[in-house]
Parts: sequence; structure tokens; C-alpha cells
Amino acid sequence: MERISTDAGFMQGHSEFGPLDTRPTGRVSSWALRRSTETLGGHAARQVLRLSEAVGLTGADSVAYAQTLLTALGPVAERPLALPPERSFLSDDHTPVEFSLAFVPDGDPTLRVLLEPGYGAGGLAENGRTGLRVVRAMARDWGFSTKRLDELEDLFFPPNPQGPLALWCALELLPGGVPRVKVYLNPAASGQERSADTVREALRRLGHRRAFAALPEGDRHLFFALDLGDWQEPRVKVYLAHHDLSAAGAAGLSRLDGGPGRAEIQRFFRTAAGQDVDADGFGHPDVPLDRRPGLSCHAFTESRTGLPSGFTLHIPVRDYARHDGEALDRAVAVLRRHGMDPAPLVRALAAVTSRRLQDGVGLIAYLGLAYQQGRPPRMNAYISSEAYEVRPPVTAAARTPRPEAVH
Ligand code: TRP
Repeated sequence: MERISTDAGFMQGHSEFGPLDTRPTGRVSSWALRRSTETLGGHAARQVLRLSEAVGLTGADSVAYAQTLLTALGPVAERPLALPPERSFLSDDHTPVEFSLAFVPDGDPTLRVLLEPGYGAGGLAENGRTGLRVVRAMARDWGFSTKRLDELEDLFFPPNPQGPLALWCALELLPGGVPRVKVYLNPAASGQERSADTVREALRRLGHRRAFAALPEGDRHLFFALDLGDWQEPRVKVYLAHHDLSAAGAAGLSRLDGGPGRAEIQRFFRTAAGQDVDADGFGHPDVPLDRRPGLSCHAFTESRTGLPSGFTLHIPVRDYARHDGEALDRAVAVLRRHGMDPAPLVRALAAVTSRRLQDGVGLIAYLGLAYQQGRPPRMNAYISSEAYEVRPPVTAAARTPRPEAVH
């Protein structure tokens, strides 16, 4: 059961659960009461406030970013959580918001938030139009150009779009109150069978003529992503899904020139997927991921070499762990191995939920190991909002049901 007291600080002035709330915790069904009064925006904005604090942003930045999230969500922010969710591929319980922490070896992690501005717009075409409108409003507010996105509009926003999404955007919540913006588009918008052509053409229009040929084989083009705004080296990223991926297979996916060592990628894969060597020294065989697929992401910044300058491997840890305690242990192991401090992740999980980690699985959705040429590896941990639902942990009696076919 949720403890009202843990939320009280952020409820000030927002609801009846302010500091003057003297009800004894544990005696009333605070969770049920909260669900009936809480909104999607209220829930997510409060999480942003708490997460911002967990990564050391100032109070002013935290408030600005909570407001940014509410603005980006628009009218659905007012939607009561008591209503069933609209469909969204963004997260398992259909919350249109997901958080992540990007860890670097020397420095504080960056908090990011991924969101679907067109959530609940009624159809994918309107969802996409809303998304474009919201991103263009951000561009006006923060003074950046949407030119690269505008050049691709006909490819990713056809009149009758298909596929699992229309437009998502991610905000990197940097100190200062102005986020960096990324946009995620759907290569299957004009049909799954056209997605390779769509990706090839989009890369070509952005000046990356040889990039498509540099991509490894995959089962599906999942996202086409663009950095917009104030980036030193704005990237174009292609995400591929790989069914039945093994550690050895994952190690062969990077196309970076002189990129990461195969052993390092395999090690990350095994740890994230729960295939680490046992205490008694026996390794697990090279088991492929037979539930949700692994994803690879290939980032292009320059067009001279035709090769990507970034590679990320994403492991959907939630489908290969019994509960979030296990998922956290794996994240901590990866972070320590790469010289990064896990404390902010532990704080971040406590910031988004007060449930015990063993009581669910999916709070940590993915772990990603990211390589950008010339820099030490980063680790990304994706954290679910769980506004609507917590997936139950896997008990000894029941294996996790296979998730719906999503990729
Ligand atoms: N929910 C989708 C999935 O699980 C898409 C997604 C959301 C995703 N956040 C992500 C994919 C982070 C990779 C990394 O695949």
C-alpha cells in the first residue's frame, strides 16, 4: 500500500494530501483514495519533481521541468488515473511517460523523460499531428530549428499511418531549465514492408547516404530518432529489434570503427539478461533472448566515413528478471564494473514508487550500454512510471507469461 507520507512534500498546494493531512497512515486505504483523485499529469509531474531531486537538479529546475512535462502532455495530463489508459506502446502499462538515467563515469547522471504528446488523441494520424505541434511549440519556446524533422514529414506522417507509434519525444533535463530534445519516429508508418525504404530515404535526406548500408541485419526497424536543438553533434539514430539475440550475436552488432570490445558487450548482455557466471564458476550456455527482443541503436553524426559513431545495446531486463530487486542488482553490477556510482539509481527508484522492489517487475524496463566514439561507455537505465499498473513478480509457481508480440 502506498504511504501518503512519502508524497506529502510534493502534494503541497496541489491536493488534499498536503502537510496538514493528519490521517493515520496504514489505517485508510490511501492508495484507493489516491487513485480516485489523482490525474496522469499529477502523478508524472510529481515523479519528475522527485527524480530531479534524486539527481541533484535545483528546485527551480525541478519545478520548470514538471511544468514542461504537463505542457507537453497537454489535455491528457488532466485525465484521472481512475479511467482506464489509452493504448500506448511507450510502456507496458500504457503510461505515456517513461524516465531514464544516463550514467557517465565522471559526473552526475542525466535525467531524461520520454513521452507521447499525442497520447489519447484518437487515432495515429491525429496522434502524430499533435506530436508535431508540440515539438514545434518547444522549438519556438527554446529557440531551436525543426528543419531536419520538417524534411521528413511526408515519410513518417502519411495520411493513414500504421504501426505502434506516431511520434514520441524525449527531453534531457539538464541543469538550467532548458532541456535537450530528441524525437522518435516510426519507420513502419507507411507499412511494415516499407520500413527499410523509409529509413534509407530518411537517412539520405539528412545527408547520410551510405549509412543504411552500414547497418547490421535486424528483424525490424523500430525507431528513427533525431536530436533537435542545442547538441554539439546532433545524431540520427536507427533502432533495430533482434529476436533470439544471444550474447555472441549482440557482440557482432556494433558497426563502430574500432568500437567496443566484443567481450565487454557480451559481459553486459549476460549480466543484464541474468546469465552471469554462477558463484561456483559455471557459466550459463549462450542462451538467446526468447521473450522480448534485444535492441541495437546505431547513431550517425558525420557522413564522411559512412559509419556510425555511436552504438547502444538495449536489453529488456524486465522480461528476464523475476522482480525489480533482481533487475536493480544487475544494473548495479554493470554500473560498478564501468566505474559509475549506482546511488542515484537507487534514489531514483525510490523517487518514482514506494512499493518494494520485490513486489513487481518492470520498474526497470531496459538497461542499455551506450558507446559514443572516443568516449568511455555510458549506461542507461529506463524507469517506468507505473501510473496504471505494476506487473506482478514471477513467483516460483509461475513463469512470466510471454508479453504480447510487440516488436
Ligand atoms: N515500450 C517499448 C519497448 O519496450 C518502447 C520503449 C520504451 C523502449 N522505452 C524504451 C525501447 C527504451 C528501448 C529503450 O520496447
